[in-house]
Amino acid sequence: MARRKKIYEGKAKILYEGPEPGTIVQYFKDDATAFNNKKKATLEGKGVLNNRISEFVMVNLGRMGVPTHFIRRLNMREQLCREVEIIPVEVICRNVAAGSICQRLGIEEGEPLPRSIVEFCYKNDALGDPLVAEEHVTAFSWATTQELDDIISLTLRINDFLSGMFAAVGIRLVDFKLEFGRLYEGDMVRTVLADEISPDSCRLWDIETNEKLDKDRFRRDLGNVTEAYAEVARRLGIMRETQRAANDESDL
Ligand SMILES: Nc1ncnc2c1ncn2[C@@H]1O[C@H](COP(=O)(O)OP(=O)(O)O)[C@@H](O)[C@H]1O
Ligand SMILES: [Mg+2]
Repeated sequence: MARRKKIYEGKAKILYEGPEPGTIVQYFKDDATAFNNKKKATLEGKGVLNNRISEFVMVNLGRMGVPTHFIRRLNMREQLCREVEIIPVEVICRNVAAGSICQRLGIEEGEPLPRSIVEFCYKNDALGDPLVAEEHVTAFSWATTQELDDIISLTLRINDFLSGMFAAVGIRLVDFKLEFGRLYEGDMVRTVLADEISPDSCRLWDIETNEKLDKDRFRRDLGNVTEAYAEVARRLGIMRETQRAANDESDL
């Protein structure tokens, strides 16, 4: 394949210029990081799994009318997406207490929240992605009030859909992180879902056993990280092909 221009290398993905203007290619690496980059590892096969899981989720969200950046998967590790201007806010939606909210508010992990809660963090690695209020998002013009309204209603729709989708395969959607971007189409701007939705960006627990099937296995050294991601893919019905692809890759 012709050499492509690298636009950005992040912690989990590399962005390349796409074949047409306004498109990018997301390449999913096996790199895992946690605690604001202080913990790092390579988890063989993670990128292949996240590429497939994120594709599956984005395609299904698209079918129910959620606008996303996803165009199509190119191969095991790459997907073609529309280039967006990322809104520098990480949107977190929580159904059950886990992670930072437990320390912050003194709640036990696993405590169901009274209702789904949407939180915002300023996307800034140097500051450790600090929690901010809606006020900060609009006051600093990270997003307009219209964009923030769209972001919240899209996030709640995504939560409803994904909670049901995962529940159907015996998985509880505890929480997840989203990124949104601005898609410029002529003189129109639309807010669309960007980045990825995968076990790197969601907390997913087995409904029966509460076994963690997500990146907390890496954060907490629980082991079998990619095996858990593969289990998520398998339950969603996308495992067989992914396993075959992963095997083909190791044959190369
Ligand atoms: N459609 C898109 N257009 C432009 N940038 C995007 C798009 N989707 C995701 N991104 C950005 O690409 C990067 C993906 O790489 P990642 O390894 O997740 O980076 P990071 O270390 O910043 O989290 C993120 O910074 C994300 O905001
Ligand atoms: Mg990221």
